[in-house]
Amino acid sequence: MSGTFKTQLYFLLLSVTALRGHSRYLDVQENEITAEGFFSLLNSELKRELPDEYIYRRPLRCLDMVAVEGQFTFTADRPQLNCAAFFIGQPSDIISVEYDSINIDCRAGDFIKMFDGWVMKGEKFPSALDHPLPLYERYVDYCETGAAQRTVRSSQNVAMIFFRLHHPGSSFTITVRKLPNPFPCNVISQTPEGSFTMVIPQQHRNCSFSIIYPVEIRIGELSLGHLNDIKRSLPGCAGAGDFVELLGGNGVDTSKMFPVADLCYSFNGPAQMKIGCDNTVVRMVSSGKFVNRVTFQYRLLDNKELQKIRGNSVEDLCIST
Ligand SMILES: *[C@@H]1O[C@H](CO)[C@@H](O)[C@H](O)[C@H]1NC(C)=O
Repeated sequence: MSGTFKTQLYFLLLSVTALRGHSRYLDVQENEITAEGFFSLLNSELKRELPDEYIYRRPLRCLDMVAVEGQFTFTADRPQLNCAAFFIGQPSDIISVEYDSINIDCRAGDFIKMFDGWVMKGEKFPSALDHPLPLYERYVDYCETGAAQRTVRSSQNVAMIFFRLHHPGSSFTITVRKLPNPFPCNVISQTPEGSFTMVIPQQHRNCSFSIIYPVEIRIGELSLGHLNDIKRSLPGCAGAGDFVELLGGNGVDTSKMFPVADLCYSFNGPAQMKIGCDNTVVRMVSSGKFVNRVTFQYRLLDNKELQKIRGNSVEDLCIST
């Protein structure tokens, strides 16, 4: 991670805070963490570079962010009732968590629950409309499955565990691995700049690519299989079963975000748009009849651009009141 990026991010967070007149909070149940704290956790994780043959080991904290493979041990020095660790990988990774040794008291109400996605401020990513599994199947509770399921895998590049340990001295150790995902669908980007091609090959499903920064999105190519078959007469995207939408918002649940643009015709780019929200999403809805594909790049907005966007818009969808 470059120094420039860190400076930009710091500057950005300061300016976002100043513009809003209050700071953002991402809370984990009762633990509260500021956006600044959250991003500094993420950045310190991304800075690590590890040789392949070496197993990285470190203690897990009650509120933690893990972006590297390794073995992590949590030891309670006092009752720890509301803890969470967030895991993130590259867009084409899934996360695997293996329970190595567990010394907790399930009967006393201790638990370790893995969630297939992230929960922030009560909002879930991926949303129920985008995730292949029903919500209840996305939680796996160690105290219920026990030794039957020692390894839990996520469906996308993010996952998390919630844990509660009542007794001082209780502990657990997990091994976190990243495995290749040949068909990445839902993604949270680790970085505020990059590029991605999202393909849904004749499947009835939806995919969301989430960038938790205000960014400019540049769409290079959009190919929706229906273009050559159907001459559409309806205005806008009404009734389209296959389309891409750009969303902006301050939470992580895409079903609660604001539509910034709807795209339902194929084109060869570039089309660009600046979105001054905390979270920007490219979401593809697919009927399953066609192969749909969208290619895009994104980069962080600087402070000047952010202020201009905010100055120009009559109502700012992303200012929380
Ligand atoms: C995809 O999202 C749309 C709404 O945007 C919803 O109507 C549809 O049921 C979702 N598809 C799947 C497979 O969940």
